[in-house]
Amino acid sequence: MNPADRIIELTEKLNYYNERYYMDSVSEISDQEFDLLLKELESLETEYPDLKQPDSPTHRVGGGITKNFANVAHRYPMLSLANTYSEQELIDFDERVRKGLNGESYEYICEQKFDGISLSMTFENGIFVRGVTRGDGVRGDDITTNVKTLRSLPLKVNPKEGISVPPIFEVRGEGFLPFASFEKMNREAEEAGEESYANPRNAASGTFKLQDSKEVARRGLDAYIYQFLADQEIFATHEESLIALKKLGFNVSQTYCKCATIADVMAYIKEWEDKRYSLPLATDGIVIKLNSFAQREELGYTAKSPRWAIAYKYKAESKPAILRGVTYQVGRTGAITPVAELDNEKLNHKGIHLSGTTVKRASLHNANEIERLDLRIGDTVFVEKGGEIIPKVTGVDLTRRGMFDTQKIEYPTNCPECGAELYRKEGEANHYCPNEKGCPPQIRGRIEHFIHRKAMNIDSLGEGKIELLYEKGLVKDAADLYDLKYEQLFGLEKVIEDKETGKVKRIGFKEKTAQNIVDGIEKSKEMPFKQVLFAIGIRYVGATVAEKLASFFKNIDAIKNASYEELRTAPEIGDKIALSVLEYFQNEDNRQFIERLRTAGLQLTAQNEVKEIEGDTLTGKTFLYTGTFENFEREALELKIEANGGKVVSGVSGKLDYLIVGDKPGSSKIEKAKKLNVKMISETEFMAMLAV
Ligand code: IVH
Repeated sequence: MNPADRIIELTEKLNYYNERYYMDSVSEISDQEFDLLLKELESLETEYPDLKQPDSPTHRVGGGITKNFANVAHRYPMLSLANTYSEQELIDFDERVRKGLNGESYEYICEQKFDGISLSMTFENGIFVRGVTRGDGVRGDDITTNVKTLRSLPLKVNPKEGISVPPIFEVRGEGFLPFASFEKMNREAEEAGEESYANPRNAASGTFKLQDSKEVARRGLDAYIYQFLADQEIFATHEESLIALKKLGFNVSQTYCKCATIADVMAYIKEWEDKRYSLPLATDGIVIKLNSFAQREELGYTAKSPRWAIAYKYKAESKPAILRGVTYQVGRTGAITPVAELDNEKLNHKGIHLSGTTVKRASLHNANEIERLDLRIGDTVFVEKGGEIIPKVTGVDLTRRGMFDTQKIEYPTNCPECGAELYRKEGEANHYCPNEKGCPPQIRGRIEHFIHRKAMNIDSLGEGKIELLYEKGLVKDAADLYDLKYEQLFGLEKVIEDKETGKVKRIGFKEKTAQNIVDGIEKSKEMPFKQVLFAIGIRYVGATVAEKLASFFKNIDAIKNASYEELRTAPEIGDKIALSVLEYFQNEDNRQFIERLRTAGLQLTAQNEVKEIEGDTLTGKTFLYTGTFENFEREALELKIEANGGKVVSGVSGKLDYLIVGDKPGSSKIEKAKKLNVKMISETEFMAMLAV
């Protein structure tokens, strides 16, 4: 057989086995045979690159590196959904639908609300051509190479059973990391001394944006498809579209259900309240959608979201656990955080299972919280995990007090790490360790903060690696990072024994790790001033405050020399922040630290930000906005208008083209606009203007 035919044959065969495996869970051939065929295809493709098919399964293994993801416009804006936690609000929603449809009969489709990141996938002439993140709903990042690694996504759609798809169409769905992949990934991160992800959603979001698609392929992402979009009307109902999508080979979760009444919807919600934990991925509620597309049109959209759908979110799951003990963590500011060590009734150190993940610890915040809950070691406590997945202890099951020996919790008077006597400031709930310079977790914590993504963004370092560098005496503060040499890093090693399992782990710097660290540190010198200002870790100066200070004062010296009054003149800088900045720069050690960063070549002056140009759809038009918006902070909305050629004006006048009306708009602007016949548009309509 000639190579061209063999390549096509292998592509088709492998895609067929792949689909059978991922869609129907059937393995028609062994893994070995599959790999053999894949290898054959790979080597043929290397020899004849022009013959590689657009839907070749070799795309799935990744390999391409994307330096910067292109920012592209969505053909149709990606909206979000109105949320509710209450049954009454669901009934109200149903009432609005009924009224809006003037007595027509209607049905809903209920689906799981998958907790991942939304993706848009475009197909042209049946071939998958583009995968884009939601971004701000109007534009997102083009992550096509990474989306191609999703094994359940057909890279080519073949017309089937009379379903004819238009030349260009889009499907949307939720990209996610199944629990199993999430836990494996965190285990690996821990073993490599890197920071683990707090929850599967963050992990999925981080993974979809990795530059190295091979690594993306390895981590085991997946996606469920829940929407079909095209210029042509192909389907009459959502249900029809889901059935067709499934037939065409898309991964449509079969957990959806058609409901004729809101009572049926409630029953579906009840049914899945517990059952959802048996799904392989995190979900956080139910999405209720009107089934008929014509009726969806009738109802339309509010400023933020469709009127034809709503998301019901489940309350956080709560479960009992035994409080084995309390440990105390010291943060970078010296603040002490008590942490509940939780376990199951067998006290076998396995923790409890909550909302799909294992929970062994939960923050208790401060001494007041322990008192408020009247906690004792040995108590049975209720543990809750909300959407953010940091578990909370919400109360004690007093009916069970005494089933285990209980013990009063003695709050420590001295730092558990360095022994210094703790103090408590007037009016603050936290205890602090005063030993800023000598307390190891404070020192390491400051360096960890410094390398954070929003700070100097040195992702080749992480908690474990910093610990190793600190222990070996190579870094005592963040400025020391800039003196590190490859030769000092290469070969460093640490052996850690896991006390619970007795397993031994090794953290070591081989060639690649050492080089990545040196490169990452070097690259951080390009980080803009606002990030440096955040990185140095002045108390109360978070990323947003740092940005405000940087754009107002323009350089570090102006901030260093500013008086209290001058600091207060900066936008949104209050008493607490101004005092904290003053205090920081009064300290000679801090001033020296800044000088060392200056010598290392960090950016201590703000560069004029280059305004990005995204398009020209708003050219020649003037805008004003009122109220708050779902997808944009006010500043971001202004930038968006300007980036697309529009102009933002300061008041309503006869010359104003559009007033964008958000939530809780100002009545004077609205009235003036009405009087002057100024066109008022919603956020959704504004987004639609950008998308043309
Ligand atoms: S439909 C008009 N269906 O929830 C909105 N969204 O707040 C169309 N999501 O950004 C979205 N599961 O990322 C839809 N079955 C589902 C979903 C779902 C999760 C996410 C999606 C969206 C957000 C809406």
